[in-house]
Amino acid sequence: MAAIATIFVCFTTSSSSPFLARFASRFHFAAFPLRSPARKLMSQTLPRATLGLTHPSNIETPKICFAAKDVDVTEWNGDILAVGVTEKDLARDANSRFENVILSKIDAKLGGLLAQASSEEDFSGKVGQSTVLRITGLGSKRVGLIGLGQSPSTPAPFKGLGEAVVAAAKSSQANSVAVVLASSEGLSAQSKLSTAYAIASGAVLGLFEDNRYKSEAKKPALQSIDIIGLGTGPELEKKLKYAGDVSSGIIFGRELVNSPANVLTPGVLAEEAANIASTYSDVFTAKILNAEQCAELKMGSYLGVAAASANPPHFIHLCYKPLSGPVNVKLALVGKGLTFDSGGYNIKTGPGCSIELMKFDMGGSAAVLGTAKALGLIKPPGVEVHFIVAACENMISGTGMRPGDVVTASNGKTIEVNNTDAEGRLTLADALVYACNQGVAKIIDLATLTGACVVALGPSIAGVFTPSDDLAKEVFEASDVSGEKLWRLPLEESYWETMKSVVADMVNTGGRQGGAIIAALFLKQFVNEKVQWMHIDMAGPVWNDKKRSATGFGIATLVEWVLKNASNAK
Ligand code: BES
Ligand code: MN
Ligand code: ZN
Repeated sequence: MAAIATIFVCFTTSSSSPFLARFASRFHFAAFPLRSPARKLMSQTLPRATLGLTHPSNIETPKICFAAKDVDVTEWNGDILAVGVTEKDLARDANSRFENVILSKIDAKLGGLLAQASSEEDFSGKVGQSTVLRITGLGSKRVGLIGLGQSPSTPAPFKGLGEAVVAAAKSSQANSVAVVLASSEGLSAQSKLSTAYAIASGAVLGLFEDNRYKSEAKKPALQSIDIIGLGTGPELEKKLKYAGDVSSGIIFGRELVNSPANVLTPGVLAEEAANIASTYSDVFTAKILNAEQCAELKMGSYLGVAAASANPPHFIHLCYKPLSGPVNVKLALVGKGLTFDSGGYNIKTGPGCSIELMKFDMGGSAAVLGTAKALGLIKPPGVEVHFIVAACENMISGTGMRPGDVVTASNGKTIEVNNTDAEGRLTLADALVYACNQGVAKIIDLATLTGACVVALGPSIAGVFTPSDDLAKEVFEASDVSGEKLWRLPLEESYWETMKSVVADMVNTGGRQGGAIIAALFLKQFVNEKVQWMHIDMAGPVWNDKKRSATGFGIATLVEWVLKNASNAK
């Protein structure tokens, strides 16, 4: 076999979260100060079990090895040889044979089977199309054609190629697969790297199945993915490692969001954050504030939301500092961390309110903590990053906030709570004031903030709001690389009119029209004007309705943005 060079990069496809997986079969003690003597006595004798006695199981982390190879595809030995083809690559000559070099070389060994099958199955190379054949005559047991569309110009089709390859591997229980593009010779060195990044990310994330809450789960058979024809060497190796690091942040984020609210309480979210800090203690420190400490900081807006829940609030602050060298720019990432949003007294009722999905209302915090995990693995120089989450639950009880109550945020501003279901902005208000006090130059907040944003942009695009064109440019460049979809919406100041209160400085909800914009204007009241700030409303893309699972949205873009700041700061 004419292997010119081979590199290996192996990574695990599941996160190693101690509280959500590793100590799975053990009760954990209440992570909050118990109030009454009776409870205190009980806690000394009996550990407090998670509601419903549910504990995520400790699933062994499957390892998958990526190898970048430069070999003749017809000589590759393994289970599936997958070829990414554009619509153009399928052009035929007068004898109905492929004109493309790679396809014709493979098909010569198969007696024209590929050309025949692709015609019969009407395979035209469109995105989402794929065909896999069981064959003899090659070193590979199966060969697959996977559509890339007309001429792919974004990472999406290549991510899709990675996903399609692992889907094919799952259905035929393959151990080893190879991926090759029918036409990769024309690609620049840079495009080869970003294509390999997209394929590897798609494969790792496509392979991930969250089975922690099932009593039995099947192990995936796939062990190795060879990437052929996109080069070899240290640059590519670095890129594949980067794909692995970002993916493990994304998988961690997905696991946080998928975890039900009876398991992932604010206290457990804080433990997860503290665990990131102790796992990567060379670059992270953690500070977790309890309700009393938040009261000292006058976070009345956040504590108002938390007041109804038996699971107390935990304010999370992680700080990343580089291993060595100067810090040239300080950044903050702030995430909405509602481990459950019932709506409060303005309870979510009626069809379409999705109350049963409101465990995903901590998607912003999952994006922030997933990014922290990835940065703990990557360890970029030159940047300091603060990760801030005002975690709590929006519940109903005698101690809870009533509609009409007035709360006072930590910057002294007063808010008439005319709707307890607009709670995310109340928690973010105090989190943003805290972030500004860290002396950072730029803040991005992420939140599943409004149903209105989902109505405006649908399920797969997040809304972006920022007064800063410079920050918008930076983040959009990052999202071009990650492939995550963002759309900028205006901060229309005249819409603030409906947010004026008679009794307080402002109300927390205005009219129904322009709901996502009004929510962003509310957040703006709590941001120092000297700080560059962006709000990302990810209420749509946090969740994949078809897969009924979390997406890990935001992490790939945020990591890319932090690294861009790290290299610009040099
Ligand atoms: N967490 C919700 C927003 C949400 C709704 C996310 C649906 C994903 C799907 C947020 O706390 C909320 O309830 N927002 C209200 C605001 C309203 C009361 C002004 C909404 O969007 O209905
Ligand atoms: Mn709400
Ligand atoms: Zn909410």
